[in-house]
Amino acid sequence: MDILLSGEFEAAELHEWDRSLRDALPEARWLDRDQALATADSVQVAVVANPPPGSLCGLPKLRLIQSLWAGVDRLLRDPTRPPGVPIARMVDPAMNASMAETALWATLALHRGYFDYARAQRQARWLPLPQRRAGDVRVLVLGLGQMGQAAARRIGQMGYRIRGWRLGPQAAPPGLEGLETHAGAAALPALLARADIVINLLPLTPATQGLLDARFFAALPRGAGVVNLARGAHVVDADLLAALDSGQVGHAVLDVFAHEPLRPAHPYWQHPRVTVLPHVAAQTDPRSAAQVVANNVRALFAGREPAHLVQLERGY
Ligand code: NAP
Ligand code: GLV
Repeated sequence: MDILLSGEFEAAELHEWDRSLRDALPEARWLDRDQALATADSVQVAVVANPPPGSLCGLPKLRLIQSLWAGVDRLLRDPTRPPGVPIARMVDPAMNASMAETALWATLALHRGYFDYARAQRQARWLPLPQRRAGDVRVLVLGLGQMGQAAARRIGQMGYRIRGWRLGPQAAPPGLEGLETHAGAAALPALLARADIVINLLPLTPATQGLLDARFFAALPRGAGVVNLARGAHVVDADLLAALDSGQVGHAVLDVFAHEPLRPAHPYWQHPRVTVLPHVAAQTDPRSAAQVVANNVRALFAGREPAHLVQLERGY
């Protein structure tokens, strides 16, 4: 079983993936791109981590592209991707748990004013703020998929007032039956008007690109917190900076950016009302993700449908 392993890995990261994948699927031969091209007719699976465009060309027998990333927007945008080959997303409960931790941390920090206190400390200012109860803070989670559900569940456990937004149907996802759920573009403005904190966990698709724009920010109550843990291109950066400067948005926590790494001169770095994270909200953990890969590859070779296939017509 010959498998292409392709992506933008640091050396130590590649070493860890190599070891975890070999342990999880000892029957496979793991090939880099040159090795895969040399034996192209035997490569039926590619395991990829946000691979550079063109990485999947020249493999005529490819039957499955297994992503090590949850988000597959870059893969879908690659015009050289073999069009008929199914793509499986990385879905790993360990990754969902990491995302839920990041979303909860951002919610707690915004609610309890910790970003304000960090600013005050830099100026040696003693500045107690009024304390609000969690139950008085309205949190809107955009996207109720793997990440959104985990975040909503975790934040909900802390007593916040959660609402969720999805494409459809309107019903709450299984296991989150109590969650107030809304669906579709028409529902969004009224939801934003009732959100003290909005957490973006949408996939990047033509429908969601640039969704967080001037109109979106204007619909929020003044001073709301914005948390983007999904993809940078969801946000119109100039509109967010204008909303922060005017006070319409009180603080933004940003983990993802249209161009990564964020360039040193980008205004987000120095903005007093922005917290920058280097795309670490939920990293794939090779220890568990390698097992997810092994299960899917074995399913393919046993004639079963691999899990978590991207619905190409929906774009996620
Ligand atoms: P997912 O399971 O595919 O869930 C997508 C959710 O978004 C679904 O609830 C879907 O609605 C909803 N949705 C899609 N298009 C919509 C639209 N036009 N309007 C309203 N709702 C829409 O995705 P996921 O695995 O949770 O990933 C979420 C995001 O996190 C992605 O952008 C991914 O790239 C990002 N991510 C970031 C990190 C990080 O470290 N920062 C790590 C992993 C993932 P339905 O439920 O109705 O289908
Ligand atoms: C990270 O952003 C991922 O999509 O896994």
